[in-house]
Amino acid sequence: ELPQHGDFVVFGATGDLALRKLLPALFHRDREGQLPDDFRIVGVSRTETDDAGFRSIVADALAEHVPAAELDAAAVRRLLGRLHHLTLDAHDPTDWHRLAGLLKDDELGVRSGPDGPLDVVRVYYLAVAPSLFGPICRQLDEIGLVTPSSRVVMEKPIGHDLASSRQINDAVGEVFAESQIFRIDHYLGKESVQNLLVTRFANTLLEPLWSSRWIDHVEITVAESLGVGDRGGYYDHAGALRDMVQNHLLQLLCLVAMEPPTYVGRENVRDEKLKVLQALRPLGPADVARDVVRGQYVGSGDGDPAYADEVGRPDTTTETYVAIRAEISNWRWAGVPFYLRTGKRLSDRVSQIVVQFKEPPHAMFPNAEGGGGPNRLHILVQPEEGMRLHLTAKEPGPGGIRLRPVSLDLSYAAAFDQRSPEAYERLLMDVVRGNPTLFMRRDEVEAAWTWVTPILEHWRAADAAGDRPLAYPAGTTGPAAADALLGRDGRTWQEFDR
Ligand code: BG6
Repeated sequence: ELPQHGDFVVFGATGDLALRKLLPALFHRDREGQLPDDFRIVGVSRTETDDAGFRSIVADALAEHVPAAELDAAAVRRLLGRLHHLTLDAHDPTDWHRLAGLLKDDELGVRSGPDGPLDVVRVYYLAVAPSLFGPICRQLDEIGLVTPSSRVVMEKPIGHDLASSRQINDAVGEVFAESQIFRIDHYLGKESVQNLLVTRFANTLLEPLWSSRWIDHVEITVAESLGVGDRGGYYDHAGALRDMVQNHLLQLLCLVAMEPPTYVGRENVRDEKLKVLQALRPLGPADVARDVVRGQYVGSGDGDPAYADEVGRPDTTTETYVAIRAEISNWRWAGVPFYLRTGKRLSDRVSQIVVQFKEPPHAMFPNAEGGGGPNRLHILVQPEEGMRLHLTAKEPGPGGIRLRPVSLDLSYAAAFDQRSPEAYERLLMDVVRGNPTLFMRRDEVEAAWTWVTPILEHWRAADAAGDRPLAYPAGTTGPAAADALLGRDGRTWQEFDR
């Protein structure tokens, strides 16, 4: 149920995330008629601007980030009409009181009914540095802006290690109940990622095969072709492990590996994901040395810049690429490696999950020519959304039997002739509705940090000993050591599938 009265308050409203993702997502939902009439969007930032200035900043952002065909003028006007802006210096108490005035006045004035103030759902979206999460929540509480109908949304990374993540969760938890806290991982809002659950659990075909009995290994790849752009200030402190693995890749792994929940409900899915994270085989120092590859891109002959030049720190050891061989120590998955890899400035932008099945137990075609290779299910997350099932078939012909690989292709674009909403559209509406299913619970975030922390520690020690990440030229598929990681097990990565 959508509430009838709401405020969507974005801290960091003139930042990259708000302008590139959040406001375009709200625009699309509004255009579809999903935002109630009495729903304001209040931008809070340090930028010196007013409502009119903010509206024009957002109008420019929409023009840049929404395809022209979807940018109809009436919908733009409607969204802009919802916007307000408040310039806030977080250390200045008068600014906080101005915010309280802006939000509360209406509650008592316009937003009161015959029985007194209306129940206004307030979403506080913290698109700011994690060090500000706790202080902002405390201030909101002090000025009386936190009610049972309030919700807070936190962007990842929540902290930079387990200890800092706990501190942030403690600080936010002093003000908001866990049911009011929405930790966003936008990968969970992607259509193709949600479809993973449906593929697994709304079909009978795959699940009986979904275990170490029939699956040889799983690959999870999130490859990006862009570099760090102008986010170097953030990224150089984060690196690929914190930026992508601790959250997006581990969440994908959870959805591939989790047990079927009794039903898809608020806590069941999160309970099952947590169990997967807790079952990840812990990585000791020797495991990290053997099973984790860290890389950093260097310039390519084609003029792509090196990461160190992009961030202006020649001696930076921040990783822009990670590959990991992980294992899940439970009944279903014991002995099945999960290979994870992610990197920036790779040859392509492709996110895919490859589930490779075991060879047939018996070779029935001893004299057959060729070979189809083992069956593989490719789950294409982006840019194409779909599935490809690689099978073996007989090549037509009167002679002997020739085996050839063939694939069954399912393209969502072809199967469903409709626009696929962006991840944030789904997730922001879930926050407004108060549905936390697709958000990370505190225990999940902390379990993920627990697993990645030994890697961070190992790298810290390696840095102190003068080690550096392995270099890979921009525009390639990553360091050769990542190939060796699978090669050691007699396997190879599947190519980026488009
Ligand atoms: C973000 C990371 O969470 O995800 C970025 O901070 C990354 O570094 C982005 O580029 C990738 O998201 P998507 O949806 O483009 O795959």
